[in-house]
This record gives sequence, C-alpha cells and structure tokens, in this order.
Amino acid sequence: NSRDPTSLRTPIVAVLGHVDHGKTSLLDKIRGSAVIEGEAGAITQHIGATAVPLDIISTIAGDLVDPDDFDLPGLLFIDTPGHHSFTTLRSRGGALADIAILVVDVNDGFQPQTLEALDILKRSQTPFIVAANKIDTVPGWNVNEDMPINATYDAQSDRVSSRLDESLYKIIGNLSDEGFSADLYWRVQNFQRNVGVVPVSAMTGEGVPDLLAVMMGLSQRYMKEEMEIDVTGPGVGTVLEVKEEKGFGKTVDIVLYDGTIRADDTVVVGGQNDPIVTEVRALLQPRPLAEIRTESRFEKVDEVGAAAGIKVAAPDLGDAMAGAPVRVVRNRSLDEVVHEVRAELADIAVDTADEGVVVKADTLGSLEAMADALDEAEVPIVRAEVGDVAPRDISVASTAEDSKQQAILGFNVDTLSDAERRAESDDVKIFTDQVIYQLIEEYEEYVEDLEK
Ligand code: GTP
Ligand code: MG
Repeated sequence: NSRDPTSLRTPIVAVLGHVDHGKTSLLDKIRGSAVIEGEAGAITQHIGATAVPLDIISTIAGDLVDPDDFDLPGLLFIDTPGHHSFTTLRSRGGALADIAILVVDVNDGFQPQTLEALDILKRSQTPFIVAANKIDTVPGWNVNEDMPINATYDAQSDRVSSRLDESLYKIIGNLSDEGFSADLYWRVQNFQRNVGVVPVSAMTGEGVPDLLAVMMGLSQRYMKEEMEIDVTGPGVGTVLEVKEEKGFGKTVDIVLYDGTIRADDTVVVGGQNDPIVTEVRALLQPRPLAEIRTESRFEKVDEVGAAAGIKVAAPDLGDAMAGAPVRVVRNRSLDEVVHEVRAELADIAVDTADEGVVVKADTLGSLEAMADALDEAEVPIVRAEVGDVAPRDISVASTAEDSKQQAILGFNVDTLSDAERRAESDDVKIFTDQVIYQLIEEYEEYVEDLEK
C-alpha cells in the first residue's frame, strides 16, 4: 500500500463520563501543558473539540511516546458535558468517535452517567479506556506534577498506594459487572479484548503522559486502516449542536469525519422534515485565546479537513437536528446527495406503533437510544421526535385510550410553558430526565402505581 501517510486522518476521541468527574479538566490540563511547553499555538481549539498534534503529544508524554513510532497526525478530543447527551456522537453506521476515554472519579466510582456511557460504548462497539481521575485526592497523596504513573506510584507511601489500589480495583470490578474484562493498563496485552484503566489526575497532570501514550498506541495499532481517507473529497460529518449565533442566525456545530468542507460549498443537512439543501455562508472557528478580546469570538476560515470541529453558518438551518448527517455536495449530483442523507435519516428513524407513549429527545442519537431502551422495557411508542416538549405533543398524548399511554417521556429536553399548562388541563403526564434508564424507571413506577 503506497498511500501517502498525510492522508491518514486524526482519530476522533470522545471524552465521556459522569458530571464533574473531570472531563473538561483533563482536556484543560493537556492544553495547559502545551502552553507551558511554549507550544500554545500548536493546539487548535475547534468548535466542541481540541486538536492535539503528535509532536505535542510526544512532548507531554516524554519517553512514553516516540513520534517516530507513529504516522497518525495526532488526536482530536471531543468534550461532552455531563448533562448533554453524548449519544449525539453518532455517524453513518455507528459511533462518530473512533475511540473513547471514560472518565471516572476514583472516589465517586461508577455513577448513573458512567453506566449510561458504558452502555452506549458497548452498543456502538467503540474501543475505550478508563481514566481513573483525581488520584491526587487520595488522603496523604504526594504530588509529582506531570509525572508518568509508575514514577509517582513509587513516591507514595504503602498506605497511600494501597488506598488507591483499592479504589482502582473497585472500578475494575464495576467494569467486570458490566461485562468488560478490565485491568490496570500496564497489565493489558490486548486492548481489543481488555479495557485498560489509567490512573490520572487532571489537576496535577500525573498519569497524563500514560493516558496520551495509551490513546496514541491504541489508535495506531487498531485504527490506522480506518483513518485512511481521501482527505480532499467532499466532506461528511455529524451535527453536534444547532445554535443561534449573533450576526449569523441559526448555525450548526459539526464534526467532520471525512473529506473537506469549504466556505463556498453547497451542503445537505438532516432536518426535522426533509433534508435541508443550503449554501455555506461562513465556516467559523473559535479565535485563539490570545485574541479573545476582539469583538467577534470567531474567525472565518476557507476550508477545513477531517477530522475537525467547525461551526457552519448557512441559511435555512432552523430545522436542523443534532445527531443528523451533513454532506458536502461539490461536483456530484444534488439528488444523489439528498438521497444519501435521506437514507441515513431513515436508518435512524424509530419504529412507531398505533398506540403508545410520546418520546422527545435532544438528539437523533439519544432518540435512538431511548427507543431501544423502551423496546427492551416493552413500552410502545406512538410518536418519537427530536425537540422540546411542545403543545402538539400533549395533543397526541391526550388522545391515548389507555391512561398509562397518556404520557410523554422527554430525555434531555425542556418542556415549553404552554405545553406544561396544556398537560395539566388534558391530564397528560410528562416525565423528563437526563439519564435514560432513570427516566424509564420513573415511568414504570408511575405505571405500577396506576395499576394498583
Ligand atoms: P461536566 O462538564 O459538568 O460534566 O463536568 P466535567 O466532567 O467536565 O468535570 P470538570 O472538569 O468540570 O471538573 C469538575 C470538578 O472537579 C472541578 O472543580 C475540577 O477542578 C475538579 N477536578 C477535576 N479533575 C480533578 C483532579 O484530578 N483532581 C482534583 N483534586 N480535582 C479535580
Ligand atoms: Mg465539562
């Protein structure tokens, strides 16, 4: 195979975990280390993502990463706020992320969103490692800033290290309960079969060299072939978020996982009804931190290539959905591209029944996950849509003959105030939660009470 290695794209790494377990801190630490190394400009802040090139990874990881051993260009990290559903992170045929870091607080251990993240990683068959974070909070911890884990381990008293071991084995036990065979990363031979656990501190940087080395090694070893793409082809991506932006109207934040997108491209975006065909007006990146004082938070770019996070400003994006596909048309027939987007959307569509509950979710991916979970719980769905709970959802729910189906299950969405009022007068019950299984449990408890 004589492919030019520059055609290898950056692997996309999703950082997942329960609220406050340290996802953002971990990325801040990696960015901060680059700043300390005098390389602040080398890390590019994307929309919803951070790109860290190989030479910076190697600087931070020291002896653990020799850049000559790798030909992938670096890693693109996507931060997912705990309250936001990372189920948006889907792409054609499965997971948007090539690989993931599941962050678990060593003291707090497994929490509802940890389990939910695991469930999604399992379902999408995304390879992942566990970052056992906040090791510096073990009482008596002796801090060794930015050191690899074995060096800082050696510097701890027996009491402290056995205390940490206890917490780590608890996490390994929890993973095993969920059907994953896991071990401390230095004992793992085959990362495809076993989940590696990396002890880290996002605060002190301890273990961060190990984390980067393991991620880089995993990507190079198991994902290199999937990273071989036509880097100049028409772009393909997924909508992360639909956002109103001053001066630009409705915009979409996307992660591009194939090809390029240019400021003069025509794109097709998955919408609530039909695919949206629109002309890009601007491609926007956050300004480097140093320039944050200028009026506009964004700078316009002419072109970006996969993998990247980018904000796309274009007319008619009001109906765009988080989790929906985005495709660049360029030199192809528009019909063909619209057809591709429609087919992708149909793939995600939820099967509905003549009678059942109404389901609302924040993204297409979470809607899909909700539908799967309700199917398992044998709860039929009459209507499933992306978006907040609106009055017309109440109208649909209120017509159910079975009172237990006069219900709306909203995942990660708000209820519009007029909908709330309507629900009260129409005797429709609204359930909302940020954790899928909790939401379903709540509903099931309600049904049990009704049947008493
Ligand atoms: P959400 O985005 O809300 O889901 O949270 P997150 O997972 O991004 O957590 P975040 O990075 O915001 O960290 C939550 C809190 O934990 C902050 O107060 C951090 O300073 C603290 N924290 C994160 N990592 C560490 C760590 O390694 N050690 C210590 N001592 N505190 C940490
Ligand atoms: Mg965060």
